[in-house]
Amino acid sequence: EKAGYEHFMLKEIHEQVSAIHNTLAGKVSELEGTIDLKELSMTDEEIRKLSRVQILACGTSWHAGLLGKYLFEQLAGIHCDIDICSEYRYRSPVISDGTLAIAITQSGETADTLAAVREIMSYNCPTLAITNVVGSTITREANSVLYTRAGPEIGVAATKTFSTQLTLLYILAVKFALARGKLSPNYVKGFITGLRKVPGQIQQILNQKEAVKECAENFAHAENYFFLGRHFNYPIALEGALKLKEISYLHAEGFAAGELKHGPIALLEKGTPVVTIATRGQTYDKVLSNIKEVKARDATVIAVADNKDTEIGKYADVVLTTPQTSELLSPLLSVVVLQLLAYYTALARGCSIDKPRNLAKSVTVE
Ligand code: F6R
Repeated sequence: EKAGYEHFMLKEIHEQVSAIHNTLAGKVSELEGTIDLKELSMTDEEIRKLSRVQILACGTSWHAGLLGKYLFEQLAGIHCDIDICSEYRYRSPVISDGTLAIAITQSGETADTLAAVREIMSYNCPTLAITNVVGSTITREANSVLYTRAGPEIGVAATKTFSTQLTLLYILAVKFALARGKLSPNYVKGFITGLRKVPGQIQQILNQKEAVKECAENFAHAENYFFLGRHFNYPIALEGALKLKEISYLHAEGFAAGELKHGPIALLEKGTPVVTIATRGQTYDKVLSNIKEVKARDATVIAVADNKDTEIGKYADVVLTTPQTSELLSPLLSVVVLQLLAYYTALARGCSIDKPRNLAKSVTVE
């Protein structure tokens, strides 16, 4: 059932190619520049009336939601808050009219997420669930459901459910932006063309996985690992660190790259691996200066960069490449590199990859 792969996790990383394709099927029209989300059951008029989006999620799904916040605000101009579910109920949230709650949970069974959803629904706030599991508890509680259609995920570490959650958040944010007149159908056509290329580009990354494996093996015995990203790739830095700690038991932390100098830089030592997502975009130059700060402490920079970037090699010790895409879509590619890095690090350390110690696939206690 692992279809020739050594672990479910590796199989599921590869399945992202078809999973993202399935998530998109029937939802986007490249020709017309439109997005069709029947399951959402909201008219354009209702979307225009929204004043706020409140995202609720835990763990990896929370990382997807964090990118969602950037997308809803930047593309659709809707104020968006995001909370960790286990905190939400206890901080006396203020819920304003016109709020849409979006609960993200691959299993649909996470107790903290269900509790947060019950809390917000008690204020009559309409709630949309994003989940992978048909018939899961969340699907019976939320007002509407969008399925990621990633297929069953067996590995405890979420991979294809994460990238398909991101895919849905992209098209949801673009749909909201269209309804609110923030993006033109022409822009959306270009966006959909880019999005449709993503599965093939993930395949290209998978074809070069040996380079990631070699890098993982070289640093498999590091004591600490850091992950830096900015803007759209900040949530991906957090996700890269979480994947690594979950399955390789290495100490790893993700930071917003600009935050490094406000404290975490004190932890850098000679040779500490610092994975820095440095794909092209508005913060590229800032990321380059972050890389220089890291190098000045004799730490080792592993950069994730576009394959056309000829500059990055001057600063980084190791460069892991992704095919070129828009800045907006780059997280869907950079995350695959980080998933592979976590996988091959755990493999080199002889860890139990599909069933890491102390973790369960769905966490049904609060
Ligand atoms: C990470 C992981 C966990 C889950 C979290 C939420 O690989 O699997 O962090 O993301 O427990 O789970 P769901 O999405 O099922 O609510």
